Amino acid sequence: MWDSLWINCNLCTLNDAGLGIINNGAIASTAGNIAWVGEISKLPDAPEKLAKEINDLNGSWITPGLIDCHTHIVHGGERINEFNMRLEGASYEEISRAGGGIRSTVKATRAASEQELFNKAIKRAQSLQSEGVTTLEIKSGYGLDWENETKQLRVARKIGETLPLDVVTTYLAAHTVPEEYQNNGDGYINSIIEKLPELKKSGLADAIDGFCEGIAFSPPQIEKLFKAAKDLGFNLKLHAEQLSDLGGAALAAKYGAKSADHLEYVSEKSAKAMAEANSVAVILPCAFYFLNETKKPPIDLFREYAVPMAVATDMNPGSSPCCSLLLSMNMACTFFKMTPTETMRGVTLHAAQALGLEKTHGSLEVGKVADLAIWDITHPAELSYHMGFNPLQELIKGGKQIIQR
Ligand code: NIG
Ligand code: FE
Repeated sequence: MWDSLWINCNLCTLNDAGLGIINNGAIASTAGNIAWVGEISKLPDAPEKLAKEINDLNGSWITPGLIDCHTHIVHGGERINEFNMRLEGASYEEISRAGGGIRSTVKATRAASEQELFNKAIKRAQSLQSEGVTTLEIKSGYGLDWENETKQLRVARKIGETLPLDVVTTYLAAHTVPEEYQNNGDGYINSIIEKLPELKKSGLADAIDGFCEGIAFSPPQIEKLFKAAKDLGFNLKLHAEQLSDLGGAALAAKYGAKSADHLEYVSEKSAKAMAEANSVAVILPCAFYFLNETKKPPIDLFREYAVPMAVATDMNPGSSPCCSLLLSMNMACTFFKMTPTETMRGVTLHAAQALGLEKTHGSLEVGKVADLAIWDITHPAELSYHMGFNPLQELIKGGKQIIQR
């Protein structure tokens, strides 16, 4: 007998090149995993003979639980003053070069206790969860020293232990050069590399990330970090081509990175390299919006070379104080002309791939985790259409109901 069976639902399985829609569907879970999925008429017996618990959904839609594959939700402070400065004409880069930007959040994060960081971050995680998110990536990157980077990672892990939410952690010590290493980016990268074996042993990080940009690290510096991280078996990711084209995405692809993220300035050559490496292009429309950027990521190139595209919030205090994955989907459509089908795949299957979780997460398939978002909608495209409206009806994590609205 299955544990639970949901009947009379429309399923967005993501099992084919599109949405994998099954109307008049049913889906079952046992021991936290999907045990059966298909048309209700093909169920092997009467529902009451098949499962201990039966849920009649009356035509609601089920998608996989959503996956936000790029966030910085663990951080101290906010950057409202910089928001004002930018409204008065200062650019993100100017603020950063004047010692603000990431460094101002580093100050606030270092000053905050683990408990304080946790209290703030868990609200952000819950906000994402309230819109159907069941898997969340969380980066460090605002500590910039061993003590404070691992403090952020411990908070991230604790969020995953506290909430019914799968948390994937990413070590982003190479986010910017800290004050202690002013004009010595190479020295700072070396100091990160020295600690990687200890980080691996601690189990605090699943992946290594960096910021490859004029205001952060050069491709040779990132390459040195990637070599060391890859040797230790970490997954790799890179903030690349957000403000300029340094060839970061191609470099990430060369090292088999799971994803390159932002990518507004990515070249055709890099897009091709990403396709060959099967690296995911993580599109972050809220950062584009919040920084008032004009250069858009080349979605057509990603389509042409069949680079899988994910969509994420990039939730952070400087470039994207956005806690809504649904709004990110909407913006990916309106700003970048991604289709609602692409954004749906971008917050499920491709987001799972960006985290190396595609075998267990991101689609409604037998054997995968029973993370189900149940929606009061007429079609999955509706998730990309609304702005500031949340049609979530129920959220199921590992076969268990965690939200009912
Ligand atoms: O993903 N691009 C670099 N990092 C973050 C922003 C960091 C910040 O401004 O605090 C991002 O946009
Ligand atoms: Fe980011």
